[in-house]
Amino acid sequence: MIISVTAPKKGLGQSVTVINLGAALVQRLEKRTLLIDLNHHCLDLSHYLSDVSWTKGLDEYVNMREGGIPWREGEFRKCVKGINPLMDMMAANRCLALSPEDLGDLLEHTKSLYGITLVDTIGGSHALTQEINKRADIVVVLLSQEARVLNLIREYGMYQGIKEKVVFVVNRWMEAYHEERVRFDLRTLGKAIRKMGFGDHRIFPLPFDPKLLNECNESTLLYFGFSQECHNNAYHSALNHIVNHLIGLGVFEATENNLQGISAKEPDRNPLLKLLQRWDGA
Ligand SMILES: Nc1ncnc2c1ncn2[C@@H]1O[C@H](COP(=O)(O)OP(=O)(O)O)[C@@H](O)[C@H]1O
Ligand SMILES: [Mg+2]
Repeated sequence: MIISVTAPKKGLGQSVTVINLGAALVQRLEKRTLLIDLNHHCLDLSHYLSDVSWTKGLDEYVNMREGGIPWREGEFRKCVKGINPLMDMMAANRCLALSPEDLGDLLEHTKSLYGITLVDTIGGSHALTQEINKRADIVVVLLSQEARVLNLIREYGMYQGIKEKVVFVVNRWMEAYHEERVRFDLRTLGKAIRKMGFGDHRIFPLPFDPKLLNECNESTLLYFGFSQECHNNAYHSALNHIVNHLIGLGVFEATENNLQGISAKEPDRNPLLKLLQRWDGA
């Protein structure tokens, strides 16, 4: 099961959404989950999730392929960093050598190891992003309430060939507008995307949450994603609503290699619980 998280431009909140959506899915479905950062320009996932500058990721994967090392689970483990018992991350490094073919093979490998793979893409129409979007089961496209973001989709004819897989998320959503800039309400956005040929029932707001800004700066984003203490807010309710929609699409049942998450492996010790205890006790 592959979910691509993408956007017409940088800065709309792709990386934060990959992490929080990943955390929400892990908690709901208890499937092993991999977050892949494809954006070698920004390395956002490493910045948000890792306290070391060097993190295992695409460099290791490309080296393994170039070295002709046959694909085995043990080798693949050397290309990912464990984030928690159910979640791993593959960093973007500064890897420029990944071709669309490498990426296609990578996704085939990850499908055999992880129930869910979420990909933080390079925004816009980059060749790697197009490859991911072609192969993904779901493509989450982030929008803002500004006209120029919709205009980019229209001008460049983005996501046209994959319309049926697209779920739009209007990130940093605000009911009241504090600025003069042109901003759209959900109805107007829905109308605009319907005019471009997308179904307007697939558009979800994800509210602006000032806490997220601090969590990004202080590298405690996972705490925000996993700790129950943070969950009674508009952001998490909206995120759960999106998760319900994704589950309702029926794509998760189709995954054979979910490795059963935790309960099948450790019936008496729930690692997710351990993880939450760890964060709550931190
Ligand atoms: N829903 C939100 N509410 C408040 N701030 C947000 C939200 N989503 C993202 N941000 C902030 O926006 C900034 C950019 O997010 P990021 O995920 O790094 O963007 P991208 O990966 O698209 O460039 C970060 O500082 C992040 O904290
Ligand atoms: Mg990013």
